[in-house]
Amino acid sequence: MNKPVKIIIDDHEIEAFAGEKLLWAALDNDIFIPHLCAIREEKRSGASCRLCFVEIEGISQPVTSCTKSVEDGMVVKTRSPRIDRLVKTGFELLLSDHDLKCRECPANRSCALQKIAKERGLKLRQKRFKHIERDYQLDDSPKEFAFNRSRCVLCGQCVWADREEAKIGAIGFTRRGIKRVVTTFEDLPLAESICTECKLCVDACPVGALYYKDLKK
Ligand code: FES
Repeated sequence: MNKPVKIIIDDHEIEAFAGEKLLWAALDNDIFIPHLCAIREEKRSGASCRLCFVEIEGISQPVTSCTKSVEDGMVVKTRSPRIDRLVKTGFELLLSDHDLKCRECPANRSCALQKIAKERGLKLRQKRFKHIERDYQLDDSPKEFAFNRSRCVLCGQCVWADREEAKIGAIGFTRRGIKRVVTTFEDLPLAESICTECKLCVDACPVGALYYKDLKK
């Protein structure tokens, strides 16, 4: 176990462990930092969602808190005009191709996007970037759950659960840039892939992309 150290986040002195990631130290002390892609068990975060920025005294540029290790005496700010701008832009980009029919979504009221919007006073319906409609086909081939890719935020939580917890490797990322999706080998419906329908991926999804059919509204 690493040694306990003191750091300051938003003027609160907290105890954390040297070397642990700043994001978890903050969250464990009820200090909210937006995040979607970080996984506590992973040593290195891919830092793909670009939402967890903070400022650290002595470092000129904002840093992602999921990749920054705690050091004794660190002074951290989770809010500043620069951070708020970065988070807002990342969030708006993320939502620019997101299916925003929240009322029809099984994750309505438990969705990580709604929580981030509420905590940071951000709008889910943004105007800055042109909205892109996706016409992904719903994969409802599994018995108890379905996958609606138009709600997927590409956080990778499902891919990690499938690989590291279930040890299956049925799903993964494919394609680049705006065409990037989570899918099975050869884009097969889940029920025709090597997926065992263990549902760990469904439990890991922070939005309503992978959802239980009996929760469907
Ligand atoms: Fe840090 Fe996604 S949680 S970049």
